[in-house]
Amino acid sequence: MNVGLLGSGHIARALSAGWSRQVIAASRRPRLLFFDIALEAAAEAAGGCGGTVVASATELVSASDIVVLAVRPPDVRDALASVRDTLGRRPLASLAAGVVLADLLAALPAGARVGRLMPNVAAAVGAGVFLLADGSLGASLRTVRSLFAEIGEVVEIDESSFDAATAISGCGPGFVALFMEALESAGVAAGLEPAAARALCAGAFAGTAELVRSGRAPAAVREAICSPGGMTAAGIRSLERAGVGDAIAAAVAAAVRRAGELA
Ligand SMILES: NC(=O)c1ccc[n+]([C@@H]2O[C@H](COP(=O)([O-])OP(=O)(O)OC[C@H]3O[C@@H](n4cnc5c(N)ncnc54)[C@H](OP(=O)(O)O)[C@@H]3O)[C@@H](O)[C@H]2O)c1
Repeated sequence: MNVGLLGSGHIARALSAGWSRQVIAASRRPRLLFFDIALEAAAEAAGGCGGTVVASATELVSASDIVVLAVRPPDVRDALASVRDTLGRRPLASLAAGVVLADLLAALPAGARVGRLMPNVAAAVGAGVFLLADGSLGASLRTVRSLFAEIGEVVEIDESSFDAATAISGCGPGFVALFMEALESAGVAAGLEPAAARALCAGAFAGTAELVRSGRAPAAVREAICSPGGMTAAGIRSLERAGVGDAIAAAVAAAVRRAGELA
């Protein structure tokens, strides 16, 4: 299958890294095509994954089975204008934060097949989470779902909850990374070697995530390791006094608010 990436920046590179992993059977690995108004960005993205640079948006679309729209939200209008006459019935998956299905559909001819997706950067290692709201994909929905399922978990949601879900799964890795940075630095300040602090920190996050994935509630994990008068309880009291819960709630609210301002 030929996948055309319209826009070759950060997220296009993360997806391409995921799709070009050798653990995906060669027969299922997509052929990746890149176009970007910054030609060097397309060349860099293609170089990183053995993909192909094409010379125009129309050439990209003509050669693709699926088009992935990976430009920044203010550039969506121009990017769609550049493909509207060529797209036909090829499915288009838009990654643009805050750009709603109604606006995508309005910018394309009647009959266009469009879905809205929100990836996260863990797609680069095959561990992404993709929110998917279907606009008009019809029979192409299954193809789009299978393509992204090669590099993570696809979660279909109604568009009404897209911004809230994006704040958790799209922005979440950034919030978690901030917490990890702080935990790692605190480990170093407490006397650990930097490499050891990083490895222990990654292990703590990965292990906790696995426990939650296996069915335990986060509160149950916390309570299980919080023996009265113990070390964890002392640390958690300190986090609560500092208002960590309120700070996280404010971060999610700020991200949701921002989604409405992006397009
Ligand atoms: N980065 C993430 O982790 C992430 C996660 C989820 C969703 N997204 C979404 O993915 C989209 C891309 O984000 P990004 O971080 O990858 O942005 P980025 O790194 O800035 O890459 C976007 C690329 O698109 C190019 N471009 C602009 N207009 C174009 C056009 N009409 N045709 C072709 N290429 C065009 C830009 O060139 P110039 O720089 O020269 O303008 C730039 O090279 C955004 O809408 C964002 O909401 C990103």
